[in-house]
Amino acid sequence: MLIRPRRNRSRPALRRLVRETHLTTGDLVLPLFVQGGENEATSIPSMPGHARLSIDRIVAKADEAVSLGVPGIALFPVLPDEEKDPRGSGAAKPDGLLQRCVRAVKSAHPDLLVVTDIALDPYSSDGHDGVVIDGRIDNDETLPLLAEMAVAQAEAGADVVAPSDMMDGRVLAIREALDEAGHSDVAIGSYCTKYASAFYGPFRDALDSAPRAGDKKTYQMDPANAREALREVELDEAEGADWLMVKPGLVYADVIRLVRDHTALPVAAYHVSGEYAMLRAAADRGWLDYDACLLESLLSLKRAGADVIFTYGALDAARLLAQNV
Ligand code: PBG
Repeated sequence: MLIRPRRNRSRPALRRLVRETHLTTGDLVLPLFVQGGENEATSIPSMPGHARLSIDRIVAKADEAVSLGVPGIALFPVLPDEEKDPRGSGAAKPDGLLQRCVRAVKSAHPDLLVVTDIALDPYSSDGHDGVVIDGRIDNDETLPLLAEMAVAQAEAGADVVAPSDMMDGRVLAIREALDEAGHSDVAIGSYCTKYASAFYGPFRDALDSAPRAGDKKTYQMDPANAREALREVELDEAEGADWLMVKPGLVYADVIRLVRDHTALPVAAYHVSGEYAMLRAAADRGWLDYDACLLESLLSLKRAGADVIFTYGALDAARLLAQNV
């Protein structure tokens, strides 16, 4: 035989030299759930290793992220039901929980990137990302609310605002509102192709944000569609998005590749709550090696074309990468 592909795999140093994809800590963003109170942590049964944390505990996690070299965190607030209403009016309060948390993190760690989520669901008594009017999610009524929310987050110090709501036209509405308020440096990390996925289940447990009626299929994308992702890419680019996100991650690796091949913008992938929970659950039963499967999952997202990876395993991965395993 003249050609033996195994030769390039025969020694660790050779494998290292010919490796095509490198996962680094610098690729990762850690999502965290913020609750009220002080020195509080409420466990999330479907997300072992994660809890709803009060602001002081979030700052402690941010300390950990910084010391491990993780460049960013993404914050999601958990509000009690009595603070929710149909228009999600808590979202734009300057002294709301999320805004206070952003301020606390940025004052402790000005260089840590803080990403905030834009969608009404944590604030909405209907549990939907947009306003529900007569049983329907009203796109155009929602846009100004999202824009106000973005401005409140930017004023608190968010570096990247990340619309995850999937309303049409929201990137433009947010960009215009941010610029008008003097926040032209605040980036928009658009959840460009976000699918109506059952893999968000543990996240909705964490936030207690599941829709009270119906589902999210009139705004999130149909899991059957890949070509449609390109329409979303085109629109978000034209509306001024700074990154394009594909979500969930691994199950949509083909979409990550498609988006990567059709845009010059950075592409992010979200290794979502259900993907993380599956690894933890199998590892807890001794069926999978969590550390190895986590790194392989994140590497695969990178290989598919992601520049940025949101993962609940960011701190674990950073620790493992530091040990050079
Ligand atoms: C809210 C939002 C969701 C996620 C991020 N932002 C859930 C949803 O759309 O229902 C999911 C994240 C995850 O599952 O890890 N708009």
